[in-house]
Amino acid sequence: MATRFGNWLEERMGLGEVWSKIFLRNIPKTNWLFTLGSATLFVAVNQMVTGILLTIYYVPTPDHAYDSVVYISSEVTAGWLIRGLHHWGASVMIILTVLHMLRVILHGAYKYPREVTWFTGVGLLIVVIGFGFTGYLLPWDQKAYWATTVGTRIAEVTPLVGNFLLRIMRGGEELTAVTLARFFGAHVWFLPAILMLLLGVHLYLVIRIGISAPPKKEE
Ligand code: HEM
Repeated sequence: MATRFGNWLEERMGLGEVWSKIFLRNIPKTNWLFTLGSATLFVAVNQMVTGILLTIYYVPTPDHAYDSVVYISSEVTAGWLIRGLHHWGASVMIILTVLHMLRVILHGAYKYPREVTWFTGVGLLIVVIGFGFTGYLLPWDQKAYWATTVGTRIAEVTPLVGNFLLRIMRGGEELTAVTLARFFGAHVWFLPAILMLLLGVHLYLVIRIGISAPPKKEE
């Protein structure tokens, strides 16, 4: 019965071919350094799942943000675990992304024909840092407030467009409810959308071109 249904579906959708293109492709002899991209992907999925769960209780307003985070950590079933996974996952993700990039640099894997994979990677790095920056404000405690005050001030020293950047980020001259709403919006809608787009192209290219072999001694 299950096989018949499977065959029926396969005839109409051809998913077997997609499966073998993704999972049954030939790869060169590699080493553990080549798993850093997949490790980053694993943590990205962790961030998505735990982040979605956190939005069930998190409230992005100055009156309730801090209390909602305390409530998640102390009252919600396994809330401490979900918040902990998201909190530490954020740091792990940045470390893994940078290590993955260093591996790519070290092996010269950014060269022809993988330039576009590299460019999308640079975009992903910026997005990952953006996630960290916007997420840091969300607990709306003293550390978050002052870190974002300093972070947005740093953006202000950009030549010519500095003050414009600061006002775009803060939603005015000061750090207010508008800033929190903006950072939340960027964290849960804007950045995830860009991440999915860049990641889609990145992984498509990894599958289409195949991963590079580690360079030989004489190369
Ligand atoms: C969210 C962050 C990222 C994820 C989830 C991700 C995922 C992956 C995966 C699964 C692979 C294939 C296996 C591997 O080489 O490890 C890969 C390859 C690659 N990535 Fe990333 N990546 C990310 C960020 C970056 C960054 C920041 C760069 C560089 C700026 C980059 C550049 C590349 C390149 C050039 C390849 C091809 C490597 C080769 O063929 O040997 N990626 N990525």
